[in-house]
Amino acid sequence: IQKEALEKVTQAANLKELQDIRVSYLGKKGSITKVLKGMGKLSSEERPIIGQMANAVRDAITTSIEEKATSLEQAALEKRLEEESIDVTLPGRPVNIGGPHLLTSIVEEIEDLFIGMGYEVKEGPEVETDYFNFEALNLPKNHPARDMQDSFYITNELLLRTHTSPVQARTMQEYEGNQPVKMICPGKVYRRDTDDATHSHQFTQIEGLYVDKNVRMSDLKGTLDKFAKKMFGEERKIRLRPSFFPFTEPSVEMDISCKVCHGEGCSVCKGTGWIEILGGGMVHPKVLSMAGYDPKVYSGFAFGMGPERIAMLKYGVSDIRGFYTNDVRFLKQYHKA
Ligand code: PHE
Repeated sequence: IQKEALEKVTQAANLKELQDIRVSYLGKKGSITKVLKGMGKLSSEERPIIGQMANAVRDAITTSIEEKATSLEQAALEKRLEEESIDVTLPGRPVNIGGPHLLTSIVEEIEDLFIGMGYEVKEGPEVETDYFNFEALNLPKNHPARDMQDSFYITNELLLRTHTSPVQARTMQEYEGNQPVKMICPGKVYRRDTDDATHSHQFTQIEGLYVDKNVRMSDLKGTLDKFAKKMFGEERKIRLRPSFFPFTEPSVEMDISCKVCHGEGCSVCKGTGWIEILGGGMVHPKVLSMAGYDPKVYSGFAFGMGPERIAMLKYGVSDIRGFYTNDVRFLKQYHKA
């Protein structure tokens, strides 16, 4: 029996077969169990001899089954480890990592630049009152200059702001007419325009405002010159042209110098070698006094620019819609490494 059993154990291919072997020899009805149960019928001389033998056989089978079980388990474990092993030398799959949107980067760059000159960054609501969007900026109801900014009205008194200038009125009011104000405000603005390569019904602006005692036109010019050189390169020049905004007097438009290009793909600097990048001027006395500042004591300058336009000039983007259609092929070109 022992020989036969041990052979079977050696051949067992898996734990299930091993278990069957155990049952057939050592189980309740197993052959060894039978021998042990039959001991009572033996004579007293035979009993210890047969008993000893049967016990030895049982122990031998038990040990061999246990050994075999251990080695089968070990083999199964090794097989699993092999199957589940990972080849760490394989090249990784590239993960698509996003990056800041070009507009976000430009706005942050402009913010950093002005923060460096002591400006604080302010925000205002995109749904604005007629009062802050127009009236507080010296654009009373029915003023023809309201036509410059075709508006999305929500009610008679509420509209989507057409520029970030209401934030200058709000900030001055917050400072209660007795402290200097030095702020910029980036944000979305809305105008009733038909979208094309250079127009979008929604775009962004950055407003700047500096109000203090003795702020002069030359301060505006110096600030904008610094801005243009930092943003576009030290070799750039600026020029101011007279313009009109109801909330500034005098009002200017600012051009920066650019290298003239010709032909296809040249959209940025055709013609004169100057390109307009922003509007600004000295805050109108009426705007100061409506916000609680005495125009005899305080003066200030303000300017407003479009980050899309800045980005288009700086990076040669030819279609403003690229900022809003979110084609990753477009956006990816401007991710910094
Ligand atoms: N708000 C003006 C515009 O949207 C720009 C501007 C801002 C002009 C501040 C002067 C001063 O056209």
